[in-house]
Parts: sequence; C-alpha cells; structure tokens
Amino acid sequence: MDDCNKCDPCTGLCKIVPGMAGAFKALGDPNRLRIIHLLATDTTGTLGVSDLAGILGISQPAASQHLKTLKSEGFVTSRREGFRVYFSFNRDRLLEFREHFDQMSAAVMDRCDRELVRETTQQTSLNACVVFYSYTGVTRGVAERIRNACGCDLVEVKTLTEYSAFTAYTTGVLHARRGVCDPILPDRIDVSRYDLLVIGTPVWAWKPAPAINAAVRALSGCEGKRAVIFCTNCGQPGEALPLLEAALAARGIEVAAAVSLTQEEMAARTAENDLIERIVGAYPLPVEDLIS
Ligand SMILES: Cc1cc2nc3c(=O)[nH]c(=O)nc-3n(C[C@H](O)[C@H](O)[C@H](O)COP(=O)(O)O)c2cc1C
Repeated sequence: MDDCNKCDPCTGLCKIVPGMAGAFKALGDPNRLRIIHLLATDTTGTLGVSDLAGILGISQPAASQHLKTLKSEGFVTSRREGFRVYFSFNRDRLLEFREHFDQMSAAVMDRCDRELVRETTQQTSLNACVVFYSYTGVTRGVAERIRNACGCDLVEVKTLTEYSAFTAYTTGVLHARRGVCDPILPDRIDVSRYDLLVIGTPVWAWKPAPAINAAVRALSGCEGKRAVIFCTNCGQPGEALPLLEAALAARGIEVAAAVSLTQEEMAARTAENDLIERIVGAYPLPVEDLIS
C-alpha cells in the first residue's frame, strides 16, 4: 500500500477506514445479510427482486432498496436478460472487505502490544535486537510485528547462496538435520549494546534453519545476555527450540522464554501476543524499579 505522506507512519488505514463504514452499514441489516446468504448459496443464477422478496416475506420495493444498498457497496452485482434482472453475490468484494477488516484489527493489536510494552517497562522502545532468518517471509512478518510493538532493532540474516524451492528441501533439509552453519550475511552480529536478544527461525526438518545456526555462531558481545527465542512452523516444531536454546547456551546466552508459532496461531495472533508478553517479561527492568 502506498504511503499517503500525511500519517506518520502510514499504515494504509487512512485509505481503508472511510470505505469501511459504508460496508458495515450495508451488512448491518438482517434482511441484507439474508439476501447475501441466499445469493451466495444460489446455484441457479436466476434470482430476481420478486423471488428474493417472496423468500424473505417482504415487499418488492423493500427488497429492491436492500439490493440497491448492497450493490452500491459492491457486495451484489446484477445482469439484465430481456425484461428480467438477476442478482449475484460478489465474492471478491467480501474477500476485500475481510482483508481490510484484518488490516484494521492488526493495527489495533499492534497498538495493544505497544501499550503492553509501555505499561510494563515504562518505555516506548526496548533496547533489544531481533536476529532472524526467513525463507518465505513468515518469520520476517513476526520479527516486524515485534519491532512495531517494542521499537527494537532487526537483523535479518541471509544465506550467501540463496535456496531455491528444490534446494531448500534437499540441501537445506540435509544441512538442518546435520546442524550445519550455512555461510550468511552479515557474518558478524555485534549485540554487545543490547539488553535483550530475540532470535527467530523457521523450522526446517524439525530443526532450526541452517542460517540461524550460523547466526548464533556470528554473534559477538553476547556472553551473559538474555534471549527470547521463537520458531515459526506448520505444526511440527520438533527439536528446533531446544536445539536453538542449547546452541545459545554454548555462547553464554540464557534463554528466558521459547515460543513456537504455527501459521494458524499467527493468523489468530494468539501465540504472537504471548510472544510479545514473554519478550516484555524477559526484559531487564530499569535500575530504579529494581531498587524500589
Ligand atoms: C525446507 C523446509 C523444511 C520445513 N520443515 C518443517 C518442519 O519440519 N516442521 C514444520 O512444522 N514446518 C516445516 N517447514 C515449514 C516452515 O517452518 C514454515 O512454513 C515457516 O513458518 C516458514 O517461515 P519463513 O517464511 O520465515 O521461512 C519447512 C519449510 C521448509 C522450506
């Protein structure tokens, strides 16, 4: 979504929200919802005003008015055949509406996460660093939401040789199973100035991705630090988190919390909210709070 140059930062909601009110209004009527249901489940493609009015038990002008409202918001389309007009449900519009609603609710969740950070730590940003690898973008999405909530830094590691869809499942899986460190960039990650580390990896063959093995090795100034680790996966995290924890322990890093995120949980944001809470919980309190 393009930046509007007015909001700072622009989340794109400024363009979405004005259009949502009309859509909610169109959907906020029992008869209009019944019309949508009737049209969405109709297999004949020949429902007209009189048919709909008959099924709903309302007058034709009332049915016509409801259809006009739904059409103006794009939920219903019509086609004329001779003297008759037939109505259909516009599935794409409902998908767009859902996408916009998800964007609105994600923005609200981000705000709640930021509030949680501010209330718990009395700080608007944490002096933390998220080090992550992402092959298809899922782990990157989580890392970015942590950054949005906590205001911390991100370090994305990339493999020197990019995996293809084929080599990821052959060489990549083999490397993951053997605990290999793939050559990565950056090859040195100085974390000495951070109070907390967050390390994220996708699960590959029930293990951490080879790039994150390399990232752990590339850390410098990490001795004595605390970390929260997370993995994203399709429901089979296997030993990914215990292995990552052991690798970090070998570098002198204490793991305060480990969170596994499946794609379903990420869609519902349940485990992600838990992850933010764990990060905030693991964050060292300011000295004055420890004294009082
Ligand atoms: C090579 C490869 C191996 C994978 N192995 C597993 C696995 O063992 N268990 C699992 O639940 N998901 C597995 N997945 C799915 C990913 O862990 C999951 O889609 C993850 O969220 C992707 O994160 P990313 O988009 O940041 O790369 C694998 C994916 C790839 C590409």
